[in-house]
Amino acid sequence: MTAVGIIGGGQLARMLALAGYPLGLTVQTLDPDPGSCALALTQQLVGEYGDGEKLRWLAEHCHCLTYEFEHLPVESLRYIADRVPIFPPLEALGAAQDRAEEKTLFRELDIPVPRTANISTLAELDAALTDIGLPAVLKTRRLGYDGRGQRLLQDRRGLATTWRELAGQPLVVEEYVPFERELSIIAVRARGGETAFYPLVENEHRHGMLRSSAPCPEDPLNQVAQQYATRLLNAFGYVGVLVLELFEVNGRLLANEFAPRVHNSGHWTIEGAQTSQFENHLRAILGLPLGSCRPVEHCAMINLIGQLPDPNALLAIPGAHLHVYGKHPRANRKLGHVTVRERDPVSLAQRVQSVRALIDSPG
Ligand SMILES: Nc1ncnc2c1ncn2[C@@H]1O[C@H](COP(=O)(O)OP(=O)(O)O)[C@@H](O)[C@H]1O
Ligand SMILES: [Mg+2]
Repeated sequence: MTAVGIIGGGQLARMLALAGYPLGLTVQTLDPDPGSCALALTQQLVGEYGDGEKLRWLAEHCHCLTYEFEHLPVESLRYIADRVPIFPPLEALGAAQDRAEEKTLFRELDIPVPRTANISTLAELDAALTDIGLPAVLKTRRLGYDGRGQRLLQDRRGLATTWRELAGQPLVVEEYVPFERELSIIAVRARGGETAFYPLVENEHRHGMLRSSAPCPEDPLNQVAQQYATRLLNAFGYVGVLVLELFEVNGRLLANEFAPRVHNSGHWTIEGAQTSQFENHLRAILGLPLGSCRPVEHCAMINLIGQLPDPNALLAIPGAHLHVYGKHPRANRKLGHVTVRERDPVSLAQRVQSVRALIDSPG
């Protein structure tokens, strides 16, 4: 049996495992949490992501390694990369870990970005704001996710306090983009260089955290988004799924960030596309042909954050599919998601409204 090792044991690893079993794969994960949510579905090594001994074990027992989490020690992974194929390439992981490096890469590839500056002192921040203007967003260069490590700067009052909250680590400041929509494109590249693209996804975030996603296959911006994603894929000789997050402003696309992994804005593909992002990621890293990314019917995905709805009420909504990750409920924690699939957009909108009503006032 082909064994795939996944570094990280969260919900993305769990859904990769779910996609891997029909392909006859066995899945081995590495996660420091002995109660990780992929545990029920995979054989898990309990250890830090950079644990040399555990990584070596994975390299010896797996045909191929991948990761579901970006904040990994790249150097430790490099050490085993000559013993076992690791995809996506570690160069892509390194670039995605640092917002400054990521933005430099976008510029080099002629992918438009918001105005940004790298900051290491309060005086530099002050000077950058004169250039970039207000409002602006101050972000840690590394270790951010779900909006963590970010502060919105409305004016110069309280600047020193906000600075102190994030100081001590390298920062970037960006113009606040008054976007019309947030979009993402999920792309996949096979070992042989074949590429495939899911349609653009419109995403709604609240407090920096993804709430809902819906594919827009007819959107005229699909073509330019695919061009930008292709430049990234080619730059790395990429293998696997890559997600590019974009802002639409005045009908133009600006790149926000990219993720070298399967992504929350692609969860709709499980029921909503001919081949899910999880299956296509596995196909890509194992050197198998890619599956079609074409959507089947209309669909939308809604995250379940902090608490779960009553499954009886939720599953009574026609077209609704429930995914529960098996994590302990906690405020602002992604516990699951719902995908609604319908034949026409009007019924989809009605069903989505029913799901939202249930989630906003669970029993
Ligand atoms: N420069 C910006 N202008 C407007 N909104 C932003 C900006 N940067 C981030 N945001 C909002 O915050 C969310 C999270 O920021 P992001 O940079 O994607 O970090 P992460 O997803 O790593 O936490 C974005 O999806 C967007 O909604
Ligand atoms: Mg993001």
